Amino acid sequence: MSHADEHQGTRRDFIYYATAGAGAVTAGAAVWPLVNQMNPSADVLALASIRVDVSAIAPGTQLTVLWQGKPVFIRSRTEAEIAEARSVDVETLPDAEANNDNLLSDAPATDENRALDENGQWLVQMGVCTHLGCVPLGDAGEFGGWFCPCHGSHYDTSGRIRKGPAPRNLPVPVASFVDATTIQLG
Ligand code: FES
Repeated sequence: MSHADEHQGTRRDFIYYATAGAGAVTAGAAVWPLVNQMNPSADVLALASIRVDVSAIAPGTQLTVLWQGKPVFIRSRTEAEIAEARSVDVETLPDAEANNDNLLSDAPATDENRALDENGQWLVQMGVCTHLGCVPLGDAGEFGGWFCPCHGSHYDTSGRIRKGPAPRNLPVPVASFVDATTIQLG
């Protein structure tokens, strides 16, 4: 994908990105509302942290933003999603590590170690399947989280791999709240 295409940030680019890893059409009917913060130049897009206004994300929905050329899912979870994610015995998970860049690498994959805030409303993770890099679909799969249709990986409401060939939980990038309604990536 060229820098020019990244900059453009069109839905076509998403599909291109999604299919580049595995040669399968994956984006389906997913909607990709993009936030192109401040219309940055390509080099800024590649390097810098970005800030995302999350005030319009209703519980049970997610925003997908492009950051460093990759999709990032920012989800406002419902109470049911949080409860489901927190009821899981970490010992039973295929990947028992949180895979959260904000924590030590061996932090266990509890939902508390993956959510951005203490209450667990906000989950921020890379929208890149850990198998071969397709973009998983939200609100899908056997565990009510994300489903990657390329080869059938099911992620739960915490973005943890539960079934299928993907080896790792969806990566949680460096992220933080800078005020009540703004999340900074990077
Ligand atoms: S890329 Fe193979 S299951 Fe997602």
